[in-house]
Amino acid sequence: MSEKIFVVDKEKCISCGQCVKDCIAYALELDENSKPRLTDNGQNRCIKCQHCMAVCPVGAISIFDKKPENSEPVWSQNPEAVLNLIKSRRSIRHYKKENIEQETMQKLKDMLNFTPTGCNFHKLHFAFVEDRAVMDKIREYVNNKLIKLLSSNVVSKIKTKFSHYKDALINGEDVIFRGAPHMVVVSAPINAPCVNIDPIIALSYFELYANSLGLGTCWCGFAHICLQFMPELAKQLKIPEGYKIAYVMLFGKPDIKYTRTTQPETFEFSTIDDFSPEKLSVANKIKHFFVNNIR
Ligand SMILES: Cc1cc2nc3c(=O)[nH]c(=O)nc-3n(C[C@H](O)[C@H](O)[C@H](O)COP(=O)(O)O)c2cc1C
Repeated sequence: MSEKIFVVDKEKCISCGQCVKDCIAYALELDENSKPRLTDNGQNRCIKCQHCMAVCPVGAISIFDKKPENSEPVWSQNPEAVLNLIKSRRSIRHYKKENIEQETMQKLKDMLNFTPTGCNFHKLHFAFVEDRAVMDKIREYVNNKLIKLLSSNVVSKIKTKFSHYKDALINGEDVIFRGAPHMVVVSAPINAPCVNIDPIIALSYFELYANSLGLGTCWCGFAHICLQFMPELAKQLKIPEGYKIAYVMLFGKPDIKYTRTTQPETFEFSTIDDFSPEKLSVANKIKHFFVNNIR
């Protein structure tokens, strides 16, 4: 069955033009009766963001077979509750030795489909370890391999990163995965317009939503480093061909409870209250290039 690209219920449409105004791709226009339609090359321009369907005040627009009656209404949020969630989120390094419920796992996955991606390039991949027993196998493999690498004479970057954790690893401490029953590894196609950013946004959303469900999370740079040095792990995690692993997040039921928020140091903020650019010296241009383009 072919999908219907852009369908307007002309009985419902009130010709407000909001769909045309909000189309970032310039794929829509109003016809002679002030009803929206695709422009000549609108189908090619459309980035499938569905703003036209979402903005229509009377539910007159369907796009790519997405019908307005299948969307959810927009609620107003409690900003204090959202802020408290942000402030009270902690990196969790103590987890209950049990799986989370399958229903909760599914809620987390469903939420991920809503995270924004640059140019609406909607192709992220999430590898979920859903069973603690599988996580235990990964834990054991990685920890043993790390001990081996740290004990060998081979010079490698991983040694400089983890050398001072050698004793803890030998003592059986789970330095990398913090005893978490689950993890999610996010990757993006190498050719995605925002290959490095999209996955991080997705995990940021994941972290907050997981916390709202009473779960604990921890960004895991250590696991990310291990994945870079152990390509066999990436294969086991079914990372698709042509995808770049972006980051790892641990999660599960927390076995620790924080009573209050922390009081972080403030970042640096500047207020830009004028704009009068002067020509930069060549030296400054080169400096700017290196600071902003070389990681
Ligand atoms: C990008 C990133 C990578 C991190 N990697 C690790 C990690 O590998 N292991 C770990 O225990 N914590 C890791 N953390 C957690 C930080 O140590 C933690 O965010 C910081 O100490 C502040 O504590 P809080 O998250 O509880 O506010 C990471 C956090 C971020 C944002």
